[in-house]
Amino acid sequence: MKPYTFEHSDALMERAKRVIPGGIYGHQAPVLLTRGAYPSFFARGEGSHVWDVDGNEYIDYICSYGPIVLGHRHPKVEEAARRQMELGNCFNAPGPVWVDLAEHLVSITPFADWTVFAKNGSDVCTWATEVARQATGRPKIAMCAGAYHGTDAWCTPLPGGVTAEDRANMVYFRFNDLKSLRHAVEENSGKIAGVILSPFKHDAGHDSELPVEGFMSGVRKICDDNGIVFILDDVRAGFRLHMGGSGELFGVRPDLTTYCKAIANGYPLAACLGRDSLKQAAQEVFFTGSYFTSAVPMAAALANLKELQAGGGIERMRTNGEKLRTGLLAQARIAGLEVTYSGPPAMPYMTFNADAGHHDRAKVFCGACSRSGVYFAPRHNWFISAAHTERDIEQTLDVTERAFEAVRKQFGA
Ligand SMILES: Cc1ncc(COP(=O)(O)O)c(C=O)c1O
Repeated sequence: MKPYTFEHSDALMERAKRVIPGGIYGHQAPVLLTRGAYPSFFARGEGSHVWDVDGNEYIDYICSYGPIVLGHRHPKVEEAARRQMELGNCFNAPGPVWVDLAEHLVSITPFADWTVFAKNGSDVCTWATEVARQATGRPKIAMCAGAYHGTDAWCTPLPGGVTAEDRANMVYFRFNDLKSLRHAVEENSGKIAGVILSPFKHDAGHDSELPVEGFMSGVRKICDDNGIVFILDDVRAGFRLHMGGSGELFGVRPDLTTYCKAIANGYPLAACLGRDSLKQAAQEVFFTGSYFTSAVPMAAALANLKELQAGGGIERMRTNGEKLRTGLLAQARIAGLEVTYSGPPAMPYMTFNADAGHHDRAKVFCGACSRSGVYFAPRHNWFISAAHTERDIEQTLDVTERAFEAVRKQFGA
């Protein structure tokens, strides 16, 4: 096979750096990957595969960092989007699909009575905290230290442009540690409006943690006992683990839940769903955006959610994710390398124990995979899509066997 090279990507990056700060910023910035081993620009995608601007092909385990859940350019989603596009996308008021999609989301989400729409996960996470404040008349929000809920000042992970005042109403606790939440609630008695947390701990660059037995129900009870709104941030995991929201998988029903990434198979849309008891407060918190009502992403979302359900997508992602896990763990064992494989099967993450919080071995492993046509990321959890096939997994395991070997060669067992 021809070795992968990235001339076109590199040339585009040079041009980008001249006119865009950093060239590419945020979670897709190349600095988070293995230097020299990844493309910076993609040309196209089809099913579980993507092609970069140099024509290199990859089996895609990042899925655009979550949005691609049925596979790139899924025919049913594209057809629904195309049909709506022929009618128009952006009007003076929403199209009927605004209502159709809201009804559908409410019908598949056991706890929810209503939904609002926006564009980004950050939009809906921030708005959910405001609804909690409006409903309770309290100022503070509790979140897990190190969790990611978006780019807004109350939660952005980097300090640039953030003031102490932006964080003055934040209270922190630890995932899977009810004692730390109880302590935070006692310390801020009567002041906490909402608790926001993801269905499992998936902080970038760290091993993931599933909720331990009793954690989610414990959070629910603490919220109920103290009149606190429970916000489940399902932006990253939503529609990959359970059609009714990831809380269903972990036995908890929140008061508000936020979705974005996988809701529309790559079309820009976010949603926040909530209980009847919060509908009045929801109406009182101003929420709008130039494109919040765009019809094309909503048509795509409706088709995406229906196909995910009808085609058994969640189950397929889980079983293929399990095959990948079994294969990788067996290879690591044979190579004599200790790894930690964490997260649910459809959203796995693998670290090398000897990296001890750094990512040196992970970068060599993922870089070797990328140069051989398998796209993982060393500092972010991976995503399986419903388009991945058993053949994809087999081809992947051929590549990873050599990538483990490359790690062993460079660092020893
Ligand atoms: C759990 C979680 N919440 C919120 C966000 C923010 O979403 P967005 O990047 O669409 O604003 C993300 C994005 O990665 C996320 O993973």
